[in-house]
Amino acid sequence: MPGPDKPLLSVLRGQKAEKTPIWLMRQAGRYLPEYRALRAEKGGFLNLVYDPDAAAEITLQPIRRFGFDGAILFSDILIVPYALGQDLRFEAGEGPRLSPPLVDAALAGLEAVPGRLEPIYRTVDKVKAALPPKTTFLGFAGSPWTVATYMVAGQGSKEQAEARRYAYRDPVAFQEILDAIASMTVDYLSGQVRAGVEAVQLFDSWAGSLSPQQFEQWVVAPNARIVSDFKSRHPDVPVIGFPKGAGGKLAAYARGVGVDAIGLDETVDPAWAAAELPDGLPVQGNLDPLALIAGGAALESAVARIISAFGERPHIFNLGHGILQDTPIAHVEQLLKLVRQ
Ligand code: CP3
Repeated sequence: MPGPDKPLLSVLRGQKAEKTPIWLMRQAGRYLPEYRALRAEKGGFLNLVYDPDAAAEITLQPIRRFGFDGAILFSDILIVPYALGQDLRFEAGEGPRLSPPLVDAALAGLEAVPGRLEPIYRTVDKVKAALPPKTTFLGFAGSPWTVATYMVAGQGSKEQAEARRYAYRDPVAFQEILDAIASMTVDYLSGQVRAGVEAVQLFDSWAGSLSPQQFEQWVVAPNARIVSDFKSRHPDVPVIGFPKGAGGKLAAYARGVGVDAIGLDETVDPAWAAAELPDGLPVQGNLDPLALIAGGAALESAVARIISAFGERPHIFNLGHGILQDTPIAHVEQLLKLVRQ
């Protein structure tokens, strides 16, 4: 049983902490020289993900350097489309490529390869054996809408227009894509838990591009299904939902999805969230990654504002989205000092 010895996990279970626990989205990555060195040696991002020793090492790098309260598994949200049978490439400077894109090919033509998830579970196993006892181990997956935007377009797309157009043209086929992602995602998260993660986060990075009705249909409904299926297998494992860009729809998300905690991006006013989100719901966030790059007094006042706004709620300190590549290490150190003061 996780006791008070894991501060981040306690907050996810609804307890208020004396000292706000902290981790950062994308904390394992290119702003770290030790990450860049290992990536150069292994010759590419997917080579790292599919080498459990390297992926475990990268998961642990930010824990060793900074002592964050949470370690997030090193992998990517696009591993699920890969397991659904699309080919996946990451080329330097180009971003991810999935083929065939589902604008050109039917989902039914893909042959799922669930074995592509197995090496990730070996990474979890290795991290678990090496993690400090106070550190909470977080797994993750992308949410169906966000993952579908990549599966449909075959790559990142401006305002997710390819996927939105596709869904207007063929709502039935689009719903089938969301359902296939949701099913694979429940298996994937469940596999991560069986291998040793203690909580999971659902990244809906593109939740902000939808109308209220689409948000209900493609964000709230599929995430609610994932949470309910996941909870029937793992009732005690907390789920963090991160519907980036949801703004005024956050309260509907919190009520409709059934997450244990909600991630807030930097466009959300902490005072609004503190007042409008369901009582007692733990929140995570929401420092602007650019304030972390700025450092100094700007960082100090931004951190103070967030900590004081969430004083009455269980709160996990994080960024509003992933840490940027040109973030100075010294500013991450300053942030940890400020949060732990
Ligand atoms: O947070 C962590 O440290 C854990 C690992 C993690 C990665 N990606 C590693 C990664 C997590 C949780 C993700 C999530 C992810 N991946 C999201 C959702 C969150 C977000 O940032 O909005 C999305 C949309 C992706 C898809 C993805 N992966 C893109 C568009 C790219 C290319 C753009 C970029 O930032 O390089 C990636 C590559 C990627 N995923 C890298 C890392 C460390 C960079 C790989 C490299 O070049 O070394």
